[in-house]
Amino acid sequence: MDLSQLEQLLGGIEAEAAASAKAAKSLDALRSAESKLAKGPLAEALKSIKQFAPEERAAAGQAINRAKNAVKRIFTEAQRTLQQADVAGERKHAAGFDPTLPPPVTMRGSLHPVTAVQREVERIFVGLGFTIVGGPEMETDYYNFEALNIPAMHPARDAQDTFWLTNGWLLRTHTSPCQVRAMKRFGPPLRVIAPGRCFRYEAIDASHENTFFQLEGLLIDRDISIAHLIAFMKLLLREVFKRDVEVRLRPGFFPFVEPGFELDMSCMICGGEGCPTCKKSGWVEVLPCGMVHPNVLRHGDIDPHEYTGFAFGLGLTRLAMMKYGVADIRILNSGDLRGIVNRERLMGPIVSNG
Ligand code: PHE
Repeated sequence: MDLSQLEQLLGGIEAEAAASAKAAKSLDALRSAESKLAKGPLAEALKSIKQFAPEERAAAGQAINRAKNAVKRIFTEAQRTLQQADVAGERKHAAGFDPTLPPPVTMRGSLHPVTAVQREVERIFVGLGFTIVGGPEMETDYYNFEALNIPAMHPARDAQDTFWLTNGWLLRTHTSPCQVRAMKRFGPPLRVIAPGRCFRYEAIDASHENTFFQLEGLLIDRDISIAHLIAFMKLLLREVFKRDVEVRLRPGFFPFVEPGFELDMSCMICGGEGCPTCKKSGWVEVLPCGMVHPNVLRHGDIDPHEYTGFAFGLGLTRLAMMKYGVADIRILNSGDLRGIVNRERLMGPIVSNG
């Protein structure tokens, strides 16, 4: 390489610097273009000095330095231009900010998921001729256990860890006490549902709470059979989930029904694969049910030879979790909406404000 070739090379480097500085859209891009030139062609040029005859080296060095400074100037200039554009852009942005505009996304408030399913189930049963009744959350031993064929000392009492009150009453462990209350109040034939809060002395985890909601159902008439029970239960789940839901029926023991069943539905949190919500089984108990035990009818002053009926204790909390995709029961007692997967189903569309 001779001096004129070097000059030509340096001219090329300057031209490249100008082109890449112009093309860079950000400070980062600018910096990387500059260092690429410095490490590449400029460093090469510097190394070539050794090839020159001693008397030409000074001139070659000066040419290279001139080119280096020119490149530096080009990039500094470009940097200043970019920074000025940034500031101008921000100012424009700030001028366009209107604090009175709605946020980019609006979510509507809604009923609590449990209240929402409760209303839905109520609507279904009212349409089927049922009456909605209530009952006290502070119950007597008689209605919560005794009248339901669970005498004192019966081991079935152990299945329901109970908050006992100092006056001998208790916090109802289920909505079933409403059964005999309704029988006594209305007499047969009878169609009632009783939604409400229940309490159990439970260790709390993803699928257990000490406070939860059930909805009791009771139908008593002449010639009522298990076929009626199953038909009503399937109708209920189909209406709530707006499609056929996979269910399974197992024998279940509750002293106040005979025969008794556990109606499980396929877990909608994991699609039946097994998760903490369904205790890794793929199924969740939502509908314990059965034919009302003759002893319970007797407690309600109804003649079991004349009337039969079915009862169910819908787990409203569980159902809300399945319907709205809530994997952890504790979320229902918190204000954190992020744990509700099917939020739009509950609150309607999330509106984008453009
Ligand atoms: N009360 C029962 C429970 O909470 C459920 C149930 C209700 C079972 C009605 C059968 C009939 O465990």
